[in-house]
Amino acid sequence: MEQNWWKQAVFYEVYIPSFCDGNGDGIGDFKGLTSKLDYLKELGINGIWLTPFYKSPKVDNGYDIADYYQIDQDYGSMADFEYFVQMANERQIKVIADLVLNHTSSEHAWFQESKQSKNNTKRDWYIWRDPVVQGPPNNWESFFGGTAWEYDEATDQYYYHAFAKEQVDLNWANPDVKNAMFDVMKFWLDKGIDGFRLDVINFLTVNRDFKNNPYKNNTDEQIHLFDKDQEGILDLVKEISQFVHSYPSKFLVGEVGSEDLNVLKDYCGPGKLDVVFNFNLGSLPKFDAESIFLQLKQMEQIYTNQQIPTLFFSSHDMSRHISRFSNGDRQDEEERAKLIAGLMLSAKGVPFIYYGDEIGMRDLIIEDPSTLKDVQGKIAYEFLIKSGHSREVALEEANKKGRDKSRSPMQWDQSSFAGFSTAEPWIHLPNNFHLNTVENLIHEPFSILCFYRQLIKLRNENDVMRLGSYTRLEYKNHLIYFIREYNNERVLGIFNFGGMSQFLDLKELYKHSWKLLISNKRSSLENQSEIVVLPNEVIIASLLED
Ligand code: GLC
Repeated sequence: MEQNWWKQAVFYEVYIPSFCDGNGDGIGDFKGLTSKLDYLKELGINGIWLTPFYKSPKVDNGYDIADYYQIDQDYGSMADFEYFVQMANERQIKVIADLVLNHTSSEHAWFQESKQSKNNTKRDWYIWRDPVVQGPPNNWESFFGGTAWEYDEATDQYYYHAFAKEQVDLNWANPDVKNAMFDVMKFWLDKGIDGFRLDVINFLTVNRDFKNNPYKNNTDEQIHLFDKDQEGILDLVKEISQFVHSYPSKFLVGEVGSEDLNVLKDYCGPGKLDVVFNFNLGSLPKFDAESIFLQLKQMEQIYTNQQIPTLFFSSHDMSRHISRFSNGDRQDEEERAKLIAGLMLSAKGVPFIYYGDEIGMRDLIIEDPSTLKDVQGKIAYEFLIKSGHSREVALEEANKKGRDKSRSPMQWDQSSFAGFSTAEPWIHLPNNFHLNTVENLIHEPFSILCFYRQLIKLRNENDVMRLGSYTRLEYKNHLIYFIREYNNERVLGIFNFGGMSQFLDLKELYKHSWKLLISNKRSSLENQSEIVVLPNEVIIASLLED
């Protein structure tokens, strides 16, 4: 694929420890992942986003990097990584690597040096501050809960960590940090990686006066005003972009921790990040056409035509959309999931599918606190236990806040460990996992998996679905519908999020004729004016000239 290949790609997020175990230790790895490349090729995706695979003590499952130049031994060797990239590329699948520039593991050699003494040469690579009246330097809170400052007795100072205390924030005001990180990017680009997913990239700079954050009106909920999106961040983003794009055809997607489209829009477009994750859409809590439509519409209004949205509804940090959008009925859940798939793969934007969503994997519910794996869930649990709450209350909160829910092993087949591993997996499988496996869905023509495959194939073959602009984008009675156009060709998309059938006057939208491309509920589309769109129905049709 040429320059800007990413504008036309369908990405697939692989949460490495949970995808496929190739060496029988219960943890996913490169060998396992490589063995599943044919599956991904058949699914039709064009790009893989690999979650962090670098050497790490895994307090936050790899988002705490101890050595940016080594593959974590749980995932294999450098040779396994290189072979994987080569095999993916042979199948025309690009690979982007998750990169954590904001913080390192507390076990990283840089931090080990930094904490030696106040005048160590690496001291200023991290953010150290004196105590204020025997307490932390200010009120900043960690995104995982509690203060964001950790006291170091040996040097009588605090260091800053926006996440867990084992994830120490780097001081990007120090040019040596920047240079060291550019070296890291160079290393992986030279290895042939096709780009990066930049973790919490808007956190790189913090307010240099370390002003206290305010709280939401009369609550104890902190507004993160001074610890992200601070001065200098856009210049850094531009420098990173310039560097990465000095290599031909590389791609940058940024995780900008915000649901505010007005913030997100500052970070993407030519000369900046190619795209950012649109949490404004992706993390909507309810299955609701109107709010989804409003976000699609706002992205049209607020983004310039050089800024392209991303389309995703699940990730390793949130509940899977099939569970999040559930109304409690298993069959309805799958229909809704197909509707979301249809929208994601035909609306304007770059889609990111989360592993397992294509087979309708459900959230994992943790029933025993000793099996909690995610640091955020564990912190929430311990906090409530310490403040006197019952085990049940604490566990409920841990399930809510924790991210184990979307990290369970990929469900390949019906065997006891779902074909993920020959050994007990590092994290549990959800109950009823055997109802949704690749093995049982692949041969069912109307399964969610087959629908994904058909949709992606269609998208890969249809220029309008990849490149078209909207000429209409509308909402009415739980229906979202649009027309996209490219080179004088047009595609119509209709999605019924309501529980009831809805009439739609197609002739009002387009006066000529049309041909059905795909639907989850019908095999043809009459050329009459008014049609009845069934509940949870997706209709994608090509509009014809008479
Ligand atoms: C990002 C990652 C998340 C991680 C956090 C800290 O939000 O997606 O998994 O915990 O950054 O690195």
